[in-house]
Amino acid sequence: MPHLALENVSLRYDGGAPVLSNVSLDIASGEFVVIVGRSGCGKTSLLNLAAGFLTPDAGRVLVDGREVAGPGAERAVVFQNDALFPWLTTAENVAFAARLAGIGPAERRQQADRLLDVVGLAGLGDRPIWQLSGGQRQRVGLARALAADPAFLLMDEPLGALDAMTREGMQDLLLSAWDASGAGTLLITHGVEEALYLATRIIVMAPGPGRIIRRLDVDFGRRRLAGESARSIKASPAFVAAREDLLDSIFEREAA
Ligand SMILES: Nc1ncnc2c1ncn2[C@@H]1O[C@H](COP(=O)(O)OP(=O)(O)OP(=O)(O)O)[C@@H](O)[C@H]1O
Ligand SMILES: [Mg+2]
Repeated sequence: MPHLALENVSLRYDGGAPVLSNVSLDIASGEFVVIVGRSGCGKTSLLNLAAGFLTPDAGRVLVDGREVAGPGAERAVVFQNDALFPWLTTAENVAFAARLAGIGPAERRQQADRLLDVVGLAGLGDRPIWQLSGGQRQRVGLARALAADPAFLLMDEPLGALDAMTREGMQDLLLSAWDASGAGTLLITHGVEEALYLATRIIVMAPGPGRIIRRLDVDFGRRRLAGESARSIKASPAFVAAREDLLDSIFEREAA
């Protein structure tokens, strides 16, 4: 089973103060790991290490037990601000990697249409990117990441720029895309409820230097996939208690 691991990684930028200190994290297929923590505690730095955009000063990043030194197709990344190609249609954006791989137009289109269906954009393949809303563009970014059939999906605040209503719909979409793809998923968010709703495991980080202070297993996302309504999950006593508990950890508040 595919397995991504950060093993005792530490990081500093240009010899400055340590940004991450001795952080270890495991993500296996079928897991949805969500990182929360105050601004500047090193969440994006951690994701960039996992993606291979940065290399740690100490410690190792391993995929299936082998150390990796850079980005790889098995680790797809979705950024907060989508970087879509405005001169290509929606479908061609989704199938961009297939185009680079020399796959023909008909097959590319078939792949793109299947993924556009997964992200709720069926029928929009011929649209130019500029005719899509922000939320739709974010879904194209997700479809493009899924096109590589990655073992791991790494997302840095993918829903951060969306309004509250769109964001709730996108959370369900992320859950179903995760469920359908089986990709081990790592997602950063500022939303505590979003973290609880999506995660199988929540990682709480704290700054100075960035480190993991708590790991918490939750099952609200699995309850959602099993058919329970979002409203009933978010109103349940277990969800409300977990939210308060998590806020206490993030802001290092004393438990009342
Ligand atoms: N390229 C860089 N060069 C120097 N310092 C950096 C660089 N990127 C980030 N930092 C510093 O490293 C620390 C962690 O930054 P990082 O972006 O990982 O935090 P974050 O938890 O993602 O914050 P946010 O929630 O605001 O996105 C911060 O103090 C930041 O200023
Ligand atoms: Mg960040």
